Amino acid sequence: MRRRIAVLTSGGDAPGMNAAIRAVVLVAADLEIDVVGVRAGYAGLIDADFVDLGPDDVVDLIRQGGTALGSARCPAFTTREGRDTARRRLADARIDGVVVIGGNGSLAGARALGDPNECGPRPLAVVGIPASIDNDIGHTRLAIGVDTAMNTIVEACDKIADTAAAHDRAFIVEVMGRECGYLAMATSVAAGADVVLFRESGKSIEALVDEVADALVELRAKGRRRALVVKAEGVQAPADALKRRVDAALAARGAAVETRVTVLGHIVRGGRPSATDRLVATRLGHAAVRALADGRAGVMAAWSPGRLPASGGEWSKADPRCALIDLDEVLAETARLLDAASPEAAWRAQVFDRMGHVLRL
Ligand code: F6P
Repeated sequence: MRRRIAVLTSGGDAPGMNAAIRAVVLVAADLEIDVVGVRAGYAGLIDADFVDLGPDDVVDLIRQGGTALGSARCPAFTTREGRDTARRRLADARIDGVVVIGGNGSLAGARALGDPNECGPRPLAVVGIPASIDNDIGHTRLAIGVDTAMNTIVEACDKIADTAAAHDRAFIVEVMGRECGYLAMATSVAAGADVVLFRESGKSIEALVDEVADALVELRAKGRRRALVVKAEGVQAPADALKRRVDAALAARGAAVETRVTVLGHIVRGGRPSATDRLVATRLGHAAVRALADGRAGVMAAWSPGRLPASGGEWSKADPRCALIDLDEVLAETARLLDAASPEAAWRAQVFDRMGHVLRL
């Protein structure tokens, strides 16, 4: 009898999730494994909302944004009862492996779903694939969706820069990233912004307001006709409130700079995946299914981590750019990244803080 595995997408959608689903289906078909798609993430597991997926069902999926399986945040799954129901549904459908495509919360769900202490005598092999536009997942250089989101932000900033220059204005552009400022940091460089604001800098709102006001005065003195401030969503001041405080600080400095705010919001999460996201998603999907076929469980397929953790990680045998990292290790490193406590988080904060001055030279 052929083996059956399930695939689901969970949490905030990310461009490239569909490319990962497609890769899972195609690689599994090649290995003579059947794939069942789960609709609406963990909620679909609890409701047994399953659909058989074969190569014919994923034609052209690689180009599509969002997720064809749908996604959801599922409070019921955080309970033992919810997870037991999900495991029963999988067992009833003869499924013994699951690929979970999603972010931090989804990977925590993946660990709990496959937890040997909860599974009892019927083990369930769960492998995660990181997908989150925020790039907030530990031990993977990129999560699926980050590259497309960055391209969307840069394109939007280029457009905003045109109208800003036409009217001699300063724009505060807020980008997604509730707990992680990576998108703001990276796109500030790529968009040629003048100032970047992110939570990990640890600066007070007063300090950030002064930094923006000083920068705008400096740019005005240089005769620059436009200014671009990229602000991460995670900075604890809504963009409008920040603008009001910057306006007051500018007035106090006797500077007449007209400011505007653009909150990009969910625009950043949508759209056709970039070539990089398609490639990364496809290769991660490949590595994840190969890992399941090799009997691995409780790991995440990671993209090109600089190095492996001291324990709980190995390079994928299927792809030299991919690694298989224990989910426990991934979740611990993710927590450190979000706390700005990991070397990677410290590096990001330091480099971009130092860049702050260089940005507007
Ligand atoms: O997927 C991550 C993320 O996009 C965050 O950057 C953002 O704060 C959040 O999701 C928004 O979630 P929701 O779509 O549930 O409002």
